[in-house]
Amino acid sequence: MNKLHIEGDKKLNGTVLISGAKNAALPILFMTILTKKNIELSNVPKLTDIGIAIKLLKSLGAKIINKNKILYIDPSEINTFCPPYNLVKKIRASIWMLSPLLTRFGKAKIFFPGGCKIGCRPINLHLNGLKELGAKIIKENNYIIASIQEPLRGKYIYIEKISVGATITIMSAATLAKGLTIIENAAKEPEIIDVANFLNTLGAKITGAGSNKIYIEGVFKLNGGYHKIIPDRIETGTFLVAAAISQGLIICHNTEPKHLISVLKKLSESGANITIGKDWIKLNMQKKTPQAVNISTSPYPGFPTDMQPQFALLNSIAKGKSIVVENIFENRFNYAQELIKMGAKIKIKNNYIICTGVPRLFSKNIFSTDLRGSATLILAGCIAKGITVVNNIHHFQRGYELFPSKLNKLGANIQCI
Ligand code: EPZ
Repeated sequence: MNKLHIEGDKKLNGTVLISGAKNAALPILFMTILTKKNIELSNVPKLTDIGIAIKLLKSLGAKIINKNKILYIDPSEINTFCPPYNLVKKIRASIWMLSPLLTRFGKAKIFFPGGCKIGCRPINLHLNGLKELGAKIIKENNYIIASIQEPLRGKYIYIEKISVGATITIMSAATLAKGLTIIENAAKEPEIIDVANFLNTLGAKITGAGSNKIYIEGVFKLNGGYHKIIPDRIETGTFLVAAAISQGLIICHNTEPKHLISVLKKLSESGANITIGKDWIKLNMQKKTPQAVNISTSPYPGFPTDMQPQFALLNSIAKGKSIVVENIFENRFNYAQELIKMGAKIKIKNNYIICTGVPRLFSKNIFSTDLRGSATLILAGCIAKGITVVNNIHHFQRGYELFPSKLNKLGANIQCI
């Protein structure tokens, strides 16, 4: 199965249960390398990227079983510092094995990580942070080889560019380093708070996660523990847009409204009627066409880059003109060509697009290119006139648990073929 047949002209109404956050579960899985004690994780989403992370941990020697939707991880017998390159290169998250393996073995050898083709995805900020803490880093035939002669030492580290990945790499390396590490200009995403909360559950001493200054007091060792992964804010935003573009009404349950303030603000601006509760968000766009909204992505709590394609789709069928500026990644408009094939009026410039709303899109045979772009094209198929075929569906399977069936429960008609 690598295609979806999607019947269009649908209004998406109903309730959806949000899954655990991919971008919290991935780093947390790799943080288990830092301890030899048993870990239990709940609310881990069933995704191909998560499956690859579990395979990577098992390849290192960890024992993992999944029982009643709880992951039981025994990292005590992890016995190698070089995971298999064919798995490493599949996901960007592989980079988060570097500092735990280095801490555990005094050495780590990781093939350059993969990830969505939305930019060149350098890892210089990760490596600079580890060097600041005392690691020796060499690059050899597409491998990063890190080593230490003595335990890492805590330091004041200023990350020159806000980076989720590098913040997590440095925070995890500092957890068992000697002394205090201060990370200045840290990323503030909710997923970073979740990683810090997980590490603190194991006995780490991390404060300030979620702010731009994180303090990590190195400890001697970590214990085991239980942790529930936070809800996926990007999956939530994607379903809210699904209702907003189809004149629908949706309630997203098991989510965290405070993680989506900037997205909810833009949805209200587009004319959606939004109500929120403790762990749910309701969006009503019945009988209304969205108003176009200007978007400019920025690090959290700004507008998330992972919601940029979804809002470009909303603007494509909205009233009026809008501009969508992508400030985080240098090549995140590949999906736009496919929307243009479907009748969207989009002008692609270098790091922004100009959208002019059209009354409707038309079904086509289209090709997804990356995770969030593919989810956007699937939503486009749900509202276009006719039957849309979306190819390369492995992209969306990386980050959306049961996406077609969750959409079908809302009134879509999507067949995997
Ligand atoms: C994480 O990617 C997420 N991925 C991305 O989600 C998300 O879009 C991004 O953070 C938001 O910033 C995971 O958590 C697995 P960054 P990451 O380091 O860590 C540059 C999705 O769809 N940079 O915050 O790779 C980088 O090129 C994915 O779920 C360097 O220059 O992102 C980018 O321009 C897509 N050097 C900017 O910083 C580095 O060493 C932000 O990247 C690292 C990053």
